[in-house]
Parts: sequence; structure tokens; C-alpha cells
Amino acid sequence: MSVVTEVKERTDIVELISEHVSLQKSGRNFKGLCPFHSEKHPSFFVYPEQQTWHCFGACGTGGDAISFVMQMEQVDFGQALHVLAERAGVSLQRAAPQPREVAGEEERLLQINEAVTEYYHHLLLTSRAGEAARHYLADRNISVDTIKAFRLGFSPDRWDAAKDYLLPKGYSEAELLQVGLTTQKEGGNSYDRFRNRLMFPICDIEGRVTGFGARAMDESSAKYINSPQTTVFDKSSSLYAIDKAAPEIRKRNSVIIVEGYMDALALHQIGWRAVVASMGTSMTARQAEVTKKLTKNIVLALDADAAGEQATLRGAEVLAASLDKKPTPIPLWSGLVKYESVLDADIRVIGLPPGEDPDQVVNRDASSWQKLVEQAVPILDFAFGVVADKLDTSSAKDKSLAIEKLLPLLEEIKDPIRHAHYVDKLARLLKLGDSGPVLQALSSKARIDRRRRTTPQRTERSRAARPLVSDPTEEYCLALLLQYPDLREGAGELSVEHFAQSEHRELFNRWKEHQDMAALQSQLDAGLLEHLYYLIGKDFPPAIREGDKARRLDLGDCILRLQEKLCRRLEAEKQTALEVERGRGGTESELSKLDEQGICSGQQLHEIFVRRGSRRWTQ
Ligand code: UTP
Ligand code: MN
Repeated sequence: MSVVTEVKERTDIVELISEHVSLQKSGRNFKGLCPFHSEKHPSFFVYPEQQTWHCFGACGTGGDAISFVMQMEQVDFGQALHVLAERAGVSLQRAAPQPREVAGEEERLLQINEAVTEYYHHLLLTSRAGEAARHYLADRNISVDTIKAFRLGFSPDRWDAAKDYLLPKGYSEAELLQVGLTTQKEGGNSYDRFRNRLMFPICDIEGRVTGFGARAMDESSAKYINSPQTTVFDKSSSLYAIDKAAPEIRKRNSVIIVEGYMDALALHQIGWRAVVASMGTSMTARQAEVTKKLTKNIVLALDADAAGEQATLRGAEVLAASLDKKPTPIPLWSGLVKYESVLDADIRVIGLPPGEDPDQVVNRDASSWQKLVEQAVPILDFAFGVVADKLDTSSAKDKSLAIEKLLPLLEEIKDPIRHAHYVDKLARLLKLGDSGPVLQALSSKARIDRRRRTTPQRTERSRAARPLVSDPTEEYCLALLLQYPDLREGAGELSVEHFAQSEHRELFNRWKEHQDMAALQSQLDAGLLEHLYYLIGKDFPPAIREGDKARRLDLGDCILRLQEKLCRRLEAEKQTALEVERGRGGTESELSKLDEQGICSGQQLHEIFVRRGSRRWTQ
């Protein structure tokens, strides 16, 4: 698979775009206000099935995930590819010198993990050195069956146990370092990373061991250390126990997400197998990617204290930055509600007793876990509950504070019935009599947000987004069309694709729609009007001003130049893709496939040159 395809496949265009545009469901697709021009009614569509987007409004732009980032961030194809690759966790670097060895290398690292898993597991079950670890697990009510099912292990208190075991099997020191089993001080020798620890092999959904979590058995050192990021291990997209849980998640069409390794073990042990652990964070967007394929019903086991803190500390601003490019946790509250809307998911919350995690609950009384799960509530109700707990309804200040916390959540609810339900609920919670004040607060917040979005930021954005050097051919061509209405007929070959600058695209589309200059002007916002006046004021040489034949020829020449530029742009994109692919060690057949897919062939460019040349002769 080519890197471009891989990056696109691992990117969900709906998620990507909803980081910039507030999308609403529209049949099987999504729509919103186009981020590339200002409009009042949504004409910007996202098609999840095709993984494409298109604006049916003024700018008429469209494309895939890469072109979206190109337009949004005003970057070129290569940069956009980098942004998305990083976001999707796809490496653009060459992983090994020979293409065949890329796959081979991963395979070998997984083999090493497999071998050492068996080794540590064996030590835990049978060795003298593992005795303390066996006791520790028994104290924590982890059965031998569970130890075996999860292949828990013990890493001895030595600097070279893993090395001594693996090197004679033909693996190199470099490979052990690469897979994170050993570590090394600058210039020094490498030594075992995991020493005197309980080992938790972390598997991918197919059960291949990609990395380890390792728990200290006393308080003398860091409680957990984990494998570093490697070619095969990325903590932020891994979910502990996913391989064991997946069949059950599918069967029940629901997943419970806990935080800790020990929580997952305790629950699997008592038969709750649709359970995975997020390993410390409150769930990242990349982890959601993994469960999304299995179910859309997500139940989060949240520590009551942490959840309370979220409600009080996290402002709407922090939450707005949800689903960041980096694997940040999906911020709770409105971040999750937004996520729920976008994915069409159902997110519920299990409120844990203060200070307890699921492992402690289960060990106190297994049946109380069942009750907690039954009492799980939709994320919105849970958020309302946490706020209500802290609320003094006789205080006007408290009421406005509650509104401030909960309005951002209400705003994320796209379904009108659910929206109305929670508006009512909030009005009742605040003892406001009816929902009037809540609705009022919502619309004035929307007004303020809109003003913030459209006025200063909007102009700033369009200015910042404008390339520093405007393309002279595009300007020249548009100026001709705008100043000489008789050229309209000669512009049939010209399409919006010929313009790279988004404001030129919009002007061109508006010009196509409206013959009349006044009508055209009425469609433009201030920034574009300014540009329009500039183009209308552009001066042409006398030959163009006076001769309509010369003008037509000039336009024809312009169109060919734009065509050539378009071809070059596409060609450059293809070259970048090829370079990245080569850098990554793509095979010859993949490369030639990519080459064939080139949208613009050298042949097309050649034809344009011929046409341009022959025009020169006849001119
Ligand atoms: P906890 O501290 O709640 O651990 O951290 P736990 O799993 O309940 O372990 P016990 O019950 O104290 O033995 C939750 C998870 O956060 C990650 C681990 O995945 C852990 O299971 N974590 C925690 C780390 O990765 N590093 C740490 O230093 C601490
Ligand atoms: Mn615990």
C-alpha cells in the first residue's frame, strides 16, 4: 500500500474536518459552514463513505483529507501529508534499508516480544526468583488461570536477564534496544529496561505482543514503567486486553473502558470480558479509533474525584481544543459529547465510589460492580449530576456558573429532540420555571461566538491564509475577465480547478454565476470586495485595452498558462508522494503503480507546450 493511501485510510475525514468545522449529520453525510469562504447557510459537505468533501457554495472547492489540510493550513502537499501521517501514526521515514526488510523488521521485533513474554511468564510461574511476584499476585486475588490467560510475567532483578536469554537466540543488541527491552546511557553498554517487575504484555487486537507494562512490587521505584514508543508499540493507540476483549465487545456491542492494568485483570477474572484499559489516560482519540471498529457503545469507568475536577477546572476553552493532532486524551465533557455526536456513538459513564478503582470495587464485593454498571448514565446526565452536586440553587452566582459549565455541552448536541430534553433538564436543575432563560443564554452565547468567529478572527484568518505572493497569472486572468465582459465566451475551458488561491476560486465562481457586476459585488464579503476592486483597477497595455482580438488571444494564452501550472502542481504532488514512498523503501511495483496513478502525465504537459508554441507562431 502506498504511503498516501495508508495515511488516507488511517484518517477519518469526518473527525479531521470536525476539528475545524461544526458538522451536522445530513442523511449519510455531514454538512457545515464552509471554512474557506464566509457563508450563512451550510453548503460544505463531507462524505464519510468516499472520505471526501466538497463545498457547493461560492468557493466550489473539494477533495480528500490531504487537500483539506492543504487548504486549511495553507501548506503544500508534502507538508499536509506530514501533518496527517503524524496524526495517523504513520511513519514517513525509512524504517529499514531494504523494502522487504520493513515488514521483516516488524516481524522480528514482534518475535522478540513473543520470546521474552514466554521467558518472563515462565519465570513467574516456576522460578525461585519469581516467588515474591507470585505471592504479590495471590495477595491481590489474581488467579493462576488469569496469570496464564494474560501471560503475566516476572522480570528478574538483573541487568542482563533479557539480554542473556535473547542474544544467544540470534537477536542483536541493536534489535533489543529498538524494541525497548534494553536501554542505554549515552555511549555506555545496553542493559535490561525491566528489572524486578511484574510484566504485563500489551497486545494488539490480533494478540501479538507489541510492548509491556511493568509494575514495581514495592514503593521504592516508579510504580509502572512501560515500553517506549517503537516501530511496533504506540501506547496512546493501544488498549490493554483488547485481544481478549474484542470478541466479547462485538457480541455485547459495548465496551467498558477502565484505566488500569489491574482493573482490566480483575474484571476479566470475574467474567466481565468486554473490558479494556486505557493505561492511565482517560482515553485518547486514537484509542477510540480502535474501539470504534467494534462498537459505538462506550462505557467509561471514571474515578469520581477526577470527574468532579474536570467539571470544576476545565473551561470551555480547553475543551474546544478537543481531538487534537497529538494523542491528547479526549477531554471529558463537551469533548466527549462532541465525539459522541460526530461518531453517532453512545457514551455512558460508570461513576466509581470516591477513591476506588474497579479492581478495589470488585475485590470488596463483586456484585457491587454489576450494580455500578447498571447505574451507568449517559455522559450528559453524568455531567449534569456532577455540576448539580456542587450547586446551591438559591445562589444566582451558582446558577450562572452552572450555565457556563453546561452550555458548551448543550451546544454539541446535534439531535433536536435530545437537545430539547437537556435544555428542559437544565432549566429544572436551576429551578428556572421554564426553559426560556436557558434558550436565551444559548442564543446569546451563539451570537457572541459567531461574532468572535466572523469579525476579527475571520478577517485575520483570511489575511493570514492569503499567500504572501499572489499568483500573477491568476490575477491577470481574473482581471481580464472582470474588466472585459466580451471575454466570457472565450473562458469556457477555464474551471475553478485552474485557480490555486481560494479567494480567486471564489471570485471566479461568483463571476461565473453573475454577469452583472453589481450582483457579483453583493455576494462578496469585505476582504474579497477589496481584492475585486484591486483586480478591476489593474492596468493593461494599450494593445489589450483597444484590440478585442488581442484580448482574446491573451486570455487563451492565460488559460494555457494556468493549465500548465495546474499540471505542474499535480505533478509536484505526485513527485512528493513518490519521494516519500521511496524514502520509506516502497517496492518498485508500488512505485510504478503510483506513477501510473499520476493524474497529470508528462504527455498532457507536452500537449500544452505544443499548443502554446503553435499559438505563438500564429499570433
Ligand atoms: P493506577 O495507579 O490506578 O494503577 O494507574 P493500577 O492499574 O490501578 O495498579 P494498582 O492497582 O495500583 O496496582 C492506572 C494505569 O495508569 C498507567 C498504568 O497503565 C496503570 O495501570 N500508569 C500508572 C502508568 O503507565 N505509569 C504510572 O506510573 C502509573
Ligand atoms: Mn488499582
